[in-house]
Amino acid sequence: MSQNLAKKQAGEKAAQYVESGMTVGLGTGSTTAFAIAALGRRIREEGLLIRGIPTSSSAELEARAQGVPICTFDDIEGRLDIAVDGADEVSPVLDLIKGRGAAHTREKLVASQADRFIVLVDTSKLVKQLGTKMPVPIEVIPMAAPVVLRTLKAMGAAAALRLGLRKDGPVVSDQGFWIIDAQFGPIGDPAALSRTLLEIPGVLDHGLFVGLATEVIVGTDTGVEVLVRKP
Ligand code: A5P
Repeated sequence: MSQNLAKKQAGEKAAQYVESGMTVGLGTGSTTAFAIAALGRRIREEGLLIRGIPTSSSAELEARAQGVPICTFDDIEGRLDIAVDGADEVSPVLDLIKGRGAAHTREKLVASQADRFIVLVDTSKLVKQLGTKMPVPIEVIPMAAPVVLRTLKAMGAAAALRLGLRKDGPVVSDQGFWIIDAQFGPIGDPAALSRTLLEIPGVLDHGLFVGLATEVIVGTDTGVEVLVRKP
């Protein structure tokens, strides 16, 4: 299976859900980039009239490059119609781990404000239990990093500061904060872990998305399957 084609299928399907007049949350990452590109195409070819709220500086650059008008929460009243975004893991009940791109804090804010939060993945992201493949990213105030690391280790997690690949030192988020990746192993109760992590002083937010996704579009190289959250 071509992973790129699967991501493209999911991204293009998501763009079909968008109608003129909508405000759309624009997620971060390689899969959502296909949705943003398809929205740009629909704006050019069909005259689709939308505005997008980007979830990161990366998504903002992507939107600008594709000609998708952007705005902020200051410019809108009420909620977003749709937010589209990728994920690193998707559980059978559509809970997620996100944040490989260190954008999860803004991504969660945008998703929480959307009537529909549509998640775009290929089949490699589907897991039986969250935590199986990916660590949980935790965004922290830089000063708090050693304290949070000690707290996570006391909870039994293998935790480490995320370091830049083409930058010396820690990855710095769009907020100027740092990211700790914590491996808990398979997570039995994501909602409980989410609450526990948010109670640690110095933590801004983490990449567990519990109860937020309304639909997940799973791309393959031949098409898509749409999973819908059960009420
Ligand atoms: C960004 O911080 C992440 O939450 C991404 O949305 C997630 O990692 C999915 O990215 P890909 O679509 O590139 O796999």
